[in-house]
Amino acid sequence: MTLLARHHLPPKEGDYNLRNYLEACETFSWAEAEKAFSWKKTGRINMAHECVDKHVEEGYGSKTAIHYINGEDEYKLTFKEVKEKSDHLASVLRAHGVKKGDIVFIFLPKHPDCYIAMMAVIKLGAIAGPLFEAFMEEAIRDRVADCDGKFMITDHVLGKRIPKNDLPSLEKIFITSSPEHCEAGEISLPAELAAIERESDITEWLDMESGLNIHYTSGSTGKPKGVVHAHRAMVQQYLTGKWVLDLKNDDVYWCTAHPGWVTGTVYGIFAPWLNRATLVVNGGRFDARSWYRTLEKTEVTVWYSAPTAFRMLMAEGNDLQKEYDLSLLRHVLSVGEPLNPEVIYWGEETLGKRIHDTWWMTETGAQLIVNLPSEVIKPGSMGRPFPGIQVAILDDDGNILPHGEVGHLAIKASWPAIMREIWKNEEKYHSYFPFPGWYLSGDLAILDEDGYVFFQGRSDDMINSSGERIGPFEVESKLIEHPAVAEAGVIGKPDALRGEIVKAFIVLRKGYKPSDELLEDIRQFVKKKLAAHAAPREAEFIDQLPKTKISGKILRRELKARELEKINKR
Ligand code: WT7
Repeated sequence: MTLLARHHLPPKEGDYNLRNYLEACETFSWAEAEKAFSWKKTGRINMAHECVDKHVEEGYGSKTAIHYINGEDEYKLTFKEVKEKSDHLASVLRAHGVKKGDIVFIFLPKHPDCYIAMMAVIKLGAIAGPLFEAFMEEAIRDRVADCDGKFMITDHVLGKRIPKNDLPSLEKIFITSSPEHCEAGEISLPAELAAIERESDITEWLDMESGLNIHYTSGSTGKPKGVVHAHRAMVQQYLTGKWVLDLKNDDVYWCTAHPGWVTGTVYGIFAPWLNRATLVVNGGRFDARSWYRTLEKTEVTVWYSAPTAFRMLMAEGNDLQKEYDLSLLRHVLSVGEPLNPEVIYWGEETLGKRIHDTWWMTETGAQLIVNLPSEVIKPGSMGRPFPGIQVAILDDDGNILPHGEVGHLAIKASWPAIMREIWKNEEKYHSYFPFPGWYLSGDLAILDEDGYVFFQGRSDDMINSSGERIGPFEVESKLIEHPAVAEAGVIGKPDALRGEIVKAFIVLRKGYKPSDELLEDIRQFVKKKLAAHAAPREAEFIDQLPKTKISGKILRRELKARELEKINKR
């Protein structure tokens, strides 16, 4: 036994949906999982039907589908109400020309309207493109322009950030607010809903490969790419919801991510609704008291969040949560960034719960490496491959490395939820498969003799701050639009709370003098134009950037190495 093994956390007693991991791995088949779906009998495929309408048909119409809470504002919607509202919205969208295969962007806060819009768009066979609510002008422009988006659903507040004049493809902007809040040319949804009747038979029947949703995600190079998922993803999203989230009929489930991030869509909407759970939708920003209050007040039983949020709660000390009754909480999970062992031990101590880490990516469409409630947790490990998934650590040439060695985390292709394509970018899509039969994640990892996977970092320059994926190129591009900036290099700097923070190295144009005011002005420029989470939290002026000799590319690795050296010296 290694030293680490002493800290392993055994499973707690419980009646879990999956009781034995190794047994499940041996007998596993995706075909078996498909039996839970109504299309197995009817041949009629549509994610939104399986998430909402099916439950109404099967007699669960009065069950709570959404429990919304935002400060004092709080109400519930049943599955029947979500069905009717999404049918009605779909009727309006169809009357305005939205049809199968169209991309419809949804730019709304974490509010029931966002969840209803997702269902309405998917019912029509259109592809839902949820956008993170913190996006500003440039982030929106990049995404809509990349796929020549024609439709956008937003509200009158966020809608102001859409650079309409710069987006010729954008034909219709639907606003969830009444007409007096709409600008010329915008369509008020409440007015249209009053004028257009609800059709109850609106759902478009699709096939497994039909487009479902698109999430733009950042890499280390270039602008964000559009990752498109297909309806077939529901097989794996359902089964991971059942086995990993361990959702049962009476669960109240809270995923803290906004649907603009893939976690907020796949595990904030699809997986829980496929399992007929009640969703808690919590508006507003992170605040320790309001989060504990949400857990207590909405009677959350299963909770999926991210390490930064847990670390923020941890920073409040061990007493705050004692003011709240969290006795109904039974299962806690984490995703998005490395989960420190200290945080797992904090969870044990203060919540009396293990925190179950999970690993996946926008491109993978569902969890692939997981900690199941019925299995031992090795703190520091992301868990083991979900049954039916095969993982390997490869060297630079694609050879499988032995246990204990660091290499590229690769997954044997394929699985039901894997992306269908990168929007109009076949080359990028193929770049994920450099060795025949393997999907390469871009993560570095170690596999131990029991099959547990330990995250070791990224093999590229992608930044992960608070679990949010940030492309350095996007930030650098914005930085150099500032009149004072000649060149910029951006890296992720290790940070105890956020995992990494965005740090920028800036070369000024001639005639500009370094000052704290100028730095702040540059930071604000990125915040206002791109997105708050992507704005450098730290920036420093530098005379020149390290570059490759031949192509003159910025050597972010070098910037990072220097930064790490500085940290280690302290
Ligand atoms: C990248 C994917 C869809 C999940 C949310 C993020 C990092 C994800 C973990 C984890 C350490 C993790 C990886 C991955 N990541 N989960 N449990 N431990 N790192 O999805 O925005 O597509 O980012 O997030 O580096 O490649 P994403």
